[in-house]
Amino acid sequence: MKKICIKGTGCYIPERIVPNSYFEATVDTSEEWIVSRTGIKERRMVLPGQALSDMATPASKRALEMAGLSPLDLDLIIVGTSTADMASPSAGCMIQHKLGAKNAVAFDVNAACPGFIFGLAVARKFMQDGSHRQVLVIGAEIISHRTDFQDRNTCVLFGDGAGAVVLGLAAREKDGELLSTEIYSDGDLWKLLHVPGGGSMNPISHEMIDQRLHYVKMKGNEVFKHAVRSMIEAAQKALEGSGLTKDQIDWFIPHQANIRIMEAVAKQMDIPVEKVIKTVHKYGNTSAATIPTALDEAVRSGQIKRGHLVLAASFGAGFTSGGVLFRF
Ligand code: COA
Repeated sequence: MKKICIKGTGCYIPERIVPNSYFEATVDTSEEWIVSRTGIKERRMVLPGQALSDMATPASKRALEMAGLSPLDLDLIIVGTSTADMASPSAGCMIQHKLGAKNAVAFDVNAACPGFIFGLAVARKFMQDGSHRQVLVIGAEIISHRTDFQDRNTCVLFGDGAGAVVLGLAAREKDGELLSTEIYSDGDLWKLLHVPGGGSMNPISHEMIDQRLHYVKMKGNEVFKHAVRSMIEAAQKALEGSGLTKDQIDWFIPHQANIRIMEAVAKQMDIPVEKVIKTVHKYGNTSAATIPTALDEAVRSGQIKRGHLVLAASFGAGFTSGGVLFRF
């Protein structure tokens, strides 16, 4: 069986910058609190009228361009998101339409923040059985539409963004390899982080909206504890069986939710802080987009080079977690 590799990466970061001072003016918070507790200095948010596919389509085009492929070369599109353009159809179908990727089957994977890693794991299965050869995997999210701007516990944390990779079969010795993907769910912990309104349990109604149920609800402290544990477990599982050790890792891309979580994971895994890719200070937590956007920026800035070994791990609502190990 041929090796699966990452042929191209791309991302789209919204232009609108929302600094911490915005929240100082709207809720009881401070620049000092936000920076010291989260590491976030600013985040990006979409403009009115911008939908998920408006970010994911340009991100995908950039990944395709790096891969040297056209949208018609794709046979599968998987979108990790929980904030598609519409309740139906899927974001995958909207992005397929906008790209003109007529030969691809497209669908979404709703796994919250690890959605991109879940997408990679699903893509890997489709490619390993030989049925699909050129696959676009996207992680994209517009969390600002699910953010309660009156809730200081959550509103300062999130941002919007989209990242994508094109997977293909390695043709040359120097091509990289997707070495392992590990994904986990623990539905018993669903209440720690959820959006109660807008689904079948609390359908859309004036009453539901008046109760602000369409916004993210989170027990931040408890999420923090599970985040550190589950990211370490997922990252270690991704390493196991590859025959490689953590000392061989060139770069670690943790989910960018909070600098304290990222540093705690790196410290407990004994990964030097210089190997940790960080974007949380400028983009906040963009959910499923944090890892593919950080990957694309690190590739384009020359940090991650061909041949480098990269470990990434994420956690999120569900409770879900995932780890991925690849040679770029
Ligand atoms: N500004 C000022 N104070 C705030 C605040 C804000 N934006 N948000 C919360 N606080 C307050 C709390 O109300 C609390 O006040 P109290 O003691 O009077 O009740 C106090 O700060 C401490 O809250 P606590 O939750 O203990 O703070 P923390 O150090 O755990 O930091 C988080 C809070 C949310 C930053 C942190 O728990 C976290 O990052 N959790 C994980 C969240 C996450 O990653 N979510 C996404 C998962 S994909």
